[in-house]
Formats: sequence, C-alpha cells, structure tokens
Amino acid sequence: MSQSSEDNLAAAAANRPAASGAPFLRVRELRVHFPTDDGVVKSVDNLSFSVDRGKTLGIVGESGSGKSVTSLSIMGLHKRGTAKITGEILLDGQDLVDLPPDQVRQLRGKRMAMIFQDPLSAMHPFYTVGNQIVEAYRVHNKVTKAVARKHAIDLLDRVGIPNPKSRVDDYPHQFSGGMRQRAMIAMALSCDPELLIADEPTTALDVTVQAQILDLIRDLQAEFNSAVIIITHDLGVVAELADDIMVMYAGRAVEYSTAADIFNSPQHPYTWGLLGSMPRLDRERTERLQPIKGTPPSLINVPEGCPFNPRCSYAGTNGDLSFTVRPEFRDIGGGHHIACHLPAEERQRIWDTEIRPKL
Ligand SMILES: Nc1ncnc2c1ncn2[C@@H]1O[C@H](COP(=O)(O)OP(=O)(O)O)[C@@H](O)[C@H]1O
Ligand code: SF4
Ligand SMILES: [Mg+2]
Repeated sequence: MSQSSEDNLAAAAANRPAASGAPFLRVRELRVHFPTDDGVVKSVDNLSFSVDRGKTLGIVGESGSGKSVTSLSIMGLHKRGTAKITGEILLDGQDLVDLPPDQVRQLRGKRMAMIFQDPLSAMHPFYTVGNQIVEAYRVHNKVTKAVARKHAIDLLDRVGIPNPKSRVDDYPHQFSGGMRQRAMIAMALSCDPELLIADEPTTALDVTVQAQILDLIRDLQAEFNSAVIIITHDLGVVAELADDIMVMYAGRAVEYSTAADIFNSPQHPYTWGLLGSMPRLDRERTERLQPIKGTPPSLINVPEGCPFNPRCSYAGTNGDLSFTVRPEFRDIGGGHHIACHLPAEERQRIWDTEIRPKL
C-alpha cells in the first residue's frame, strides 16, 4: 500500500465516529446570521463538524472568521433575539438549537463548559473567585461548602495560582489579567465537563503558563475522556494537542483533516498562508513566506465565488471559476476535506515546488 493511501486510511479512521455510536458533538449545516442596520452579518455560514469523546478538534482561522460565534452558539450564549441560528447542534444526540434557554443552562458546567477569550465576561465582579468556583461546582455536585471550597483551592493550585488558600477569597479585580484567565479556566474545569471549548485560552498568557494550561486540558481529557475543542488563530498552539483540525475562513470551513495531514500535506491556499505566517524560531525572517496579504472580507458582503479570491495567489489559474463559483467543501480522500477549485495535480505541484520548500 502506498504511503498516501495509508495516510488516507488513518485519516478516515480518525474522522469516524467512536465505536459507541455517533460523535459526542455533531454540528450540521450551522448558520449564525446577525441582522443589523447595515445588512445581515453571516458570521457562520453552513458549517459542519464533529468531535468524539477523548478527541481534540482544533479550530483555526484569523480574527473575524466566526470561531467565537460558533462556540457561543454551541453553548447557547448568544443574546436572545440577536442571532438567527439554523442547522443542528447535537450534543450526545440532543439538538441544542431550539432547546429552551433554561434547559441549555442546565447542560452548562457538567456536560459542556467554555473557557472564554475574555475572563471578565465569565466572572462576576461582586463575588470572590472562590465563591464562583464553589457555586459552579455545587450546581452539579452534592457536596458541602467546605468540600467545594477545598476543591476550588485545589483547582486554583492546579492552574498555577500562588497561595491559593488565601487567593481563593479575592475578588476578580484583585487578580491580574493572567491570574483572572487562570481562575476562569479553573471555573470551567471545576465540573470535569464532557465537552470543553477553549476559545483562545492562552492568548494573553506567557509561554510557560500557556504550556501549563494546555497540559491541564490534556489531563482533563485523559482523566474524563472529554471531547475538547481548542480555538486559536495560531496553528502552533494546536500542533501537539489536536487530533483533527478545521481551518475556517469567512464563516466557513475551508479545510478539515487530521492534524498530521494539515501540517504535512495541507491542500488549501489559505492553510498554506497560515502555515507560512507561523513564527519559526529556527529560520531567518527573510527565508519565510510572507503573512497572508490583505484582510478577511466583510461578512455582510462576502465576495462571489471563493471568499478567499481577493487574497489568493492562485485565483486566476482556473479561468474565472474562483470568481464566479463557490467551491464546494468536499472530501478529497480519506476524510480530508477542502473548498478549493484547484485541480489535484496543480495543488500538489504548488505544494511541492512553491510552498513546502519555504516552510
Ligand atoms: N452580535 C453580533 N452582531 C453582529 N455581528 C457579530 C456579532 N457577533 C459577532 N459578529 C461578527 O461575526 C464575525 C465573526 O466573529 P467571531 O466569531 O467573534 O470571530 P473570531 O473568529 O475572531 O472569533 C465578525 O465579523 C463579528 O464582527
Ligand atoms: S478556489 Fe480559487 S481563490 Fe479559492 S482558494 Fe482555491 S484557488 Fe484560491
Ligand atoms: Mg474569537
């Protein structure tokens, strides 16, 4: 068997639901649109993916590609009436899209929890950090306050907060930004969630703490077989952690495969751009590819054809196809999906001769 067909089989196996049946989280044809005075913002437009228990999905894309809107939709946290959400969000088979808010609330904490980009949005300013962890824990665990407090101190310790026994009684404003971020992570992990969504969990933290937090997420997964989604604009963060990676652009998926495929044989020009702009310590700056030129489109007026066409070096190579026809998100073998019109041989040639040598 050739190496590439072996790789394809491995990829297919990774994308297959667990033996127990359907994946723990399955998102199908999700659309999240915000009607505004300027027009409809299509923040998420026909997105499908799934995550099994014990697996980590990395969702990667530049700022504004719809990553946070996707996670807030799963958690049922969009303000009522602001977002028009269609499609399916199946959590262990239960569709969350039309579930009444109080029922979704009951799922938060134990069945699913989220680490936010901005810790202040998740913490109440008038309660001590410890009390907030204690309350979150006691919603789903019938334990005394003393036991819950001990659990809170233990968690603060595990996320690297010094003197947790005294810091547990501090208010959020008494913590530095990085400490607040860690306290919020402790809160999210307090009930050992079955699905954890970490939205840029380490962006504000220094490298050592980043590594600690990512280790903690890995521990949670190993211990409780949780499904994990890590959202980041930095492919480096998910390189070691993710089983599968979905690359998003302008509210859609443009590439999806195993992490090994995404790093070793990426097939979409946007993914090439992301890889090329990853910081590399072992190369001179001049040797690297340039950051992707231009900026992502407005999600009110997404370009016709391929949304990436204004920034893509290969947009003109297929006649006017890239400018007129939206590329379908399709399986190019073994579960590796892309949305791009480039023919397979042409993609391979570009990767081999123009991209890979510069990475
Ligand atoms: N409540 C809202 N109303 C209108 N537009 C929104 C709202 N929330 C997010 N958006 C828009 O949706 C797009 C995707 O945002 P987001 O998911 O936060 O991106 P990111 O990938 O950086 O997390 C952005 O253009 C953002 O301005
Ligand atoms: S469809 Fe065209 S514009 Fe879009 S990524 Fe592929 S080559 Fe580039
Ligand atoms: Mg975001």
